[in-house]
Amino acid sequence: MYQPKTSQIIFVLAFLIGLVSQVSAHGILLTPPIRLAHDDDNANKILQAVNPTTQMPCGAGGDGYGPVTKFKPGDSMYIAYNVSIPHPGPCKIEFSKKNDKHFKTIMELGECGSAVGLVSAFVDLPHEPCDECTVRFSWNDDLGNWYLNCANVQIEDPMPMHKRSVRRLSTRKSRRNL
Ligand SMILES: *[C@@H]1O[C@H](CO)[C@@H](O)[C@H](O)[C@H]1NC(C)=O
Repeated sequence: MYQPKTSQIIFVLAFLIGLVSQVSAHGILLTPPIRLAHDDDNANKILQAVNPTTQMPCGAGGDGYGPVTKFKPGDSMYIAYNVSIPHPGPCKIEFSKKNDKHFKTIMELGECGSAVGLVSAFVDLPHEPCDECTVRFSWNDDLGNWYLNCANVQIEDPMPMHKRSVRRLSTRKSRRNL
């Protein structure tokens, strides 16, 4: 009968433990709504969003689809993240003005994942309008794993260009009328 060597057993065990840690969920950003991977299987989409990832900058969501949440400049954005498997490591909310590039931290959430359940906060958004900006929840555990969820947001210009020029025109006109 075939007798596996200890080294082989250890290898198989390590592989299985690796698999288990891959399928376990750690948390998900519930609001604002996040981008999800392209996958016909709904459960799989969620699973990919909660799993550790090495895919930068947006995890499994990548350039996947997701609704756009609209805000006004400087709005206070409510965020909620649900932790399902607690572990240490700093969590933060980051913001990119365009193309998922140059993410800046807009709120430090500290060790947000130390207990199961909801983590929520109000996060002040920038005042500068943008059409294709990204809010990213990022959590880096102490073992080098990343949990990343990206949400598409828009910060609406309170006075868009066409309205500005209309106003300028009307002031010119009224001056002429004087
Ligand atoms: C948060 O995660 C826990 C543990 O997985 C789960 O029992 C609970 O229903 C989740 N809550 C929400 C609001 O998703």
